[in-house]
Formats: sequence, structure tokens, C-alpha cells
Amino acid sequence: MIASKLDIETIRKDFPILKRKVNGYPLVYLDNAATSQTPKQVIDVIVDYYSRYNANIHRGVHTLSQEATDAYEKARGKAQQHVNAAEPHEIIFTSGTTESINLIANGFASFLTKGDQILVSALEHHSNIVPWQMLCEQTGSTLKVIPMDHNGELLIGEYSKLLSNNTKLVVANHVSNALGTINPVEEIISLAHNAGAAVLIDGAQAAPHIRVDVQKLNVDFYTISAHKICGPTGVGMLYGKEEWLKKLPPYQGGGEMIAEVTFEKTTYADLPHKFEAGTPNISGGIAFGAALDYINALGYETIANYEQELLAYATGELLAINGLKIYGTSENKTSVISFNIEGIHPYDIGTILDKLGIAVRTGHHCAQPIMDYYKIPGTVRASFSFYNTKEEVDVLVEGIKKARLMLS
Ligand code: ALA
Repeated sequence: MIASKLDIETIRKDFPILKRKVNGYPLVYLDNAATSQTPKQVIDVIVDYYSRYNANIHRGVHTLSQEATDAYEKARGKAQQHVNAAEPHEIIFTSGTTESINLIANGFASFLTKGDQILVSALEHHSNIVPWQMLCEQTGSTLKVIPMDHNGELLIGEYSKLLSNNTKLVVANHVSNALGTINPVEEIISLAHNAGAAVLIDGAQAAPHIRVDVQKLNVDFYTISAHKICGPTGVGMLYGKEEWLKKLPPYQGGGEMIAEVTFEKTTYADLPHKFEAGTPNISGGIAFGAALDYINALGYETIANYEQELLAYATGELLAINGLKIYGTSENKTSVISFNIEGIHPYDIGTILDKLGIAVRTGHHCAQPIMDYYKIPGTVRASFSFYNTKEEVDVLVEGIKKARLMLS
């Protein structure tokens, strides 16, 4: 049953780590955009796997192997349902969003030639920039940037002008990790398709906040990392439309991705195995499924309503601090606040906050072009999850005031 309102006190009990102290203070964990914390329902699934049925999958006739295979494939089914993919084999398990993007970039090398263009949004994480630069170097294609404005929003008019017959691929995130902007992905996708280009959307930062329907979006590729959504690190998924995944060459060669191997010629396995060489992160995949169950039981609408409340409260309280400036002021954003205090380096604020038990991320957030746009070395980023509270926002605000007094 989906709750209509979150019972935060009960939810917090699911997360053992939230009970710990850091530097003598209760932990205030506000680095959820880097990685979310893990509920015991997910931790228990990992312990259960290693305690009861640890075995390699798709390989053995023995009971343990069959149990592990069933659980892993059941998790794929959960991922399929979660994003509303048409087929389970359109879900490829990867080590996370970075690998998912590299898999597609690697495959597109056989489709691109000199003169082709890839459009990348100005709001990207390095993992959705560098693989495309590498691909362009390899193929002689050109990378063009969809520009942004001061609020941290993409300029869709400029994007339309950049699209041409030469555009083969458009890549953008659903939500910016550095600023929290929610991009108009429906529009980005339909404009790209009108120009005949395929679209990859990096959904790593959207997955904890927004329920995606890949069929409704009509997106070609969509990626999610489990660890941003209460699952373990080192596992994630790539959704790809069947027609694309069939056309793309394999990413890595190895066991399980083949139909038949001889020294003369190898033929490849059907989807999804063609893209899943080697022994995967089996417990991770199963735990990813459990994390999706956990989030879906809370319900995205309920989560989003609460997080938007937290965002509005935190924005108001932070803006009341003298000299504090927020970067990323779109009306349409998730519960991420990037900020600086005049005359103080973000790293110094982060260090003092840590002494007070408050975890935030500081620096360029693997999005250096965004920092260059604002002409800053980096920001302090507080990113809120559904298990955070207004009391924690108050602790953050007091911590920043203390840091400001000490550093200015
Ligand atoms: N991409 C993660 C972040 O934004 C690591 O912090």
C-alpha cells in the first residue's frame, strides 16, 4: 500500500546509519545526490543472498544457481516494471550510470562518421561528457553544447537551432546533479526525434525523485544507478529500446554474452545477455530490486511532495543567511541546493560542517563546465532525501552560520 504522507520517524528507523554519530554529533546526512543511504530491507537482501544462495547465475543446474538466477531475473522484471519498459530484455544490468553511458558511446562508434554531430547539454556530469568526447575523437564527429541560462535551465530555443540532419545523438540528464534542475526531457526527446536523432537521458539524479515511463517518454536510452535510490553501489541499469539494442554491437567480450564460440567466429547471445559479459554483481542486482520495492511502497508522489516541502523550507532558511548565494534557481528542481558564501571557499565550509556531523558535498560535483559558467571553483551542495527532516535543515543553517563566523 502506498502511504499518502510519510511517517518520517518510522522511515528513519529503517536506516541503521542514521543512528550514528560523527565527530560526537548526530549524523545529518545531506549528501544524498552523491549516494543515498540503505534501508535494512535492502541490507537484509544482500545478507540473505550470501547466507543462503550465493552462486553464479545462468550457468549451473544446481539448486543454488537456479535460485540466484531466478532472483536476479526477478529483479530485472522489477526494473522493467519500474520504468515501464516494454520487454525485460530491454533492461541491461550494468555497474551504474557511468558504465551504461560508456556502453552506448562504445556502440555508437560503429554508427558515426566525420561530419556527424552529438549534442550534449551544458548541465552534464562528466560521465555524460567525457565518453562522448572520446567517441568524437575516435570517429571524427563533433560535440556541440546546448547552452544554459543563469537559473541553470537549458535554452531550448538554442537547442532547436543546433539540431540538424547531422545530429545523430542528443544526450542530457533528466536532473542536474550540481543544481537540481529538472530538464524538459519530453521536449528534448521529441525535438531530437523530429530531427532524426536518438536520445540518451541520464536518469541518475531523477530516479530518487521522479517516476519515469520510458515508453511514454519515447526515449531511446535511459540510465539509473541503484546507489542513488537506496540500493547498493556498483550496480545500475541501462534501458534501451529493443530496436537499438539489437543493432548495437556488444560492449565487452566474455562469458555469457555468446551464442557460440569457435576460434574462427563467435556469435552473440540474445538480449539482454549480449551486453552482460562476465559474472555480474548478482547480490547488487537483487538488492536493486529490493530498493525499487522500498521506494515504490513509499510512493513517488508522497516522496516528491515531502521533498518539495523540505526544499522550500531549506531555500528560505538558507537565503536568510548573510552573503549566501544559491546556484540553480529554476522553478523546476529537485531537493538539491548548491550555494556559496561570499568570500569563503566551499571546501572550508564543508570541512567545518563535517566537524559538526553534517555531511554535504563540496567542489565542482563532477560538473566543471557548470562551475566555469558561473565563474566559481565549486559550491557547497546540500541534497535532501525523504528521510531528512526540517530539524536537520535547522542544524545545517546553524552550522553554516557558525562556519561563516569562523571563516570571515
Ligand atoms: N554524481 C554524484 C554526485 O553528484 C557522485 O555527487
